[in-house]
Amino acid sequence: MNKTIIAIGAFTMLTTGFVATTAFAGAESKCKACHTFEQGGKHKSGPNLFAVVGREAGNTDFKKYSKSLKAGGWVWNEENLKSWVCDSKKAIKELTGDAHAKTRMGKQKKCGEKADAVVAFLKTLK
Ligand code: HEC
Repeated sequence: MNKTIIAIGAFTMLTTGFVATTAFAGAESKCKACHTFEQGGKHKSGPNLFAVVGREAGNTDFKKYSKSLKAGGWVWNEENLKSWVCDSKKAIKELTGDAHAKTRMGKQKKCGEKADAVVAFLKTLK
């Protein structure tokens, strides 16, 4: 009887831990297909994102920036990164002030709380 209770307790702890870990890892896991996060990490189909918060847009040595991002002119902060991870196609128009501006990064649909989680993660990269 006592063993069963201990077993159930251990199982609950395991599953709770699992859910918490995957929820955290989920925020930026999608980005990993195209971005690395560590200092000096290589560029994949998108630029390395180490210390991106506070950095000027389009300012790494990544060779394949779109014209709009390369021209940049804004600094990445919490607010514009949240719109970027939600809808980069829309964000690029707002950030450049050009209604025809385009970015090579697809819309990631990380909006609201998901955007908060992604940006909280990006802020740790320094
Ligand atoms: C399918 C590939 C792909 C995925 C997935 C992707 N990105 Fe990107 N990302 C790109 C590309 C390509 C660019 C360069 C866009 C351009 O030049 O217009 C980019 C650019 C960026 C930039 C601008 C970097 C700079 O140097 O100014 C940020 C910030 C960014 N991505 C964050 C993210 C985050 C956060 C995620 C996950 C929520 C993500 N990306 C998912 C391909 C991707």
